[in-house]
Amino acid sequence: MIDLTGRTALVTGSGQNAGLGIARVLAEQGARVVINDIHRERAEAAASALASEGLDASAAPFDVSDSRAVQSATESLGEIDILVNNAGNAGAGEMKQSRFQDMVPEDWVPFVDVNLYGVMNCTHAVLRGMCEREWGRVITISSEAGRRGLGIGVSVYGAAKAAGINLMRHVSQEVGVHGVTANTIALGLMNNVPEEFAAPLIKAIPMGRLGSPADAGHMAAFLASEEAGWITGQVFSVNGGASAF
Ligand SMILES: NC(=O)c1ccc[n+]([C@@H]2O[C@H](COP(=O)([O-])OP(=O)(O)OC[C@H]3O[C@@H](n4cnc5c(N)ncnc54)[C@H](O)[C@@H]3O)[C@@H](O)[C@H]2O)c1
Repeated sequence: MIDLTGRTALVTGSGQNAGLGIARVLAEQGARVVINDIHRERAEAAASALASEGLDASAAPFDVSDSRAVQSATESLGEIDILVNNAGNAGAGEMKQSRFQDMVPEDWVPFVDVNLYGVMNCTHAVLRGMCEREWGRVITISSEAGRRGLGIGVSVYGAAKAAGINLMRHVSQEVGVHGVTANTIALGLMNNVPEEFAAPLIKAIPMGRLGSPADAGHMAAFLASEEAGWITGQVFSVNGGASAF
């Protein structure tokens, strides 16, 4: 059913884990995928791995939080039909958990830079072209932490993830008339989180397992499809049932 042949998809932060899973599923459905990552070697290795499986993939290393870098990279890439804003967590740095009251303002920057400015930069760079061509799909990867309060030391991350969700909602209202959709996937706990972090939380997942890159990829492929053309401004939880609302 889902056929993305002829579509070009830019997946940010797709050098590994969920992003790579998303890029792989989109490519398996026929898309030409562009693998972005802030780490050049990671983007190139991921693109080579997909290409060696016979998939159409190329690498485009740049920092999504650098608006000028995003602008120049997307100009050189040409027409982007599908954008998946996947780059997130704490950006190029380590994802550390900390109570909000124990943080200082400098600690907030990497979370907001990648999870909000990164999404804004990339969406802004491709949106005009999508509207002119009267077709486009913007998909932002958010988190359960962007939908609700969690006492696990991710307040600023969660605030930036919530902002990404609402950006998609507003953008969807502006571009729907041009055949462009903007949706969010709120991922639950994925299988790349450290064991000690996952262990106490996995009990709250009715499906009894952590999410895989393919789980993220299949939802992204559906939202990228022709068939999802009347779905916009929505948030879809992909979390093994961890929050049934
Ligand atoms: N892992 C989880 O449990 C989980 C849960 C909910 C939501 N999410 C979200 O899903 C997405 C993917 O998470 P993941 O754990 O697979 O990510 P990850 O950290 O394993 O990989 C993200 C990739 O993005 C790249 N990246 C970071 N900053 C970048 C930047 N400024 N520009 C370009 N590339 C950049 C990194 O180099 C890395 O290769 C993120 O948006 C994350 O917030 C993850």
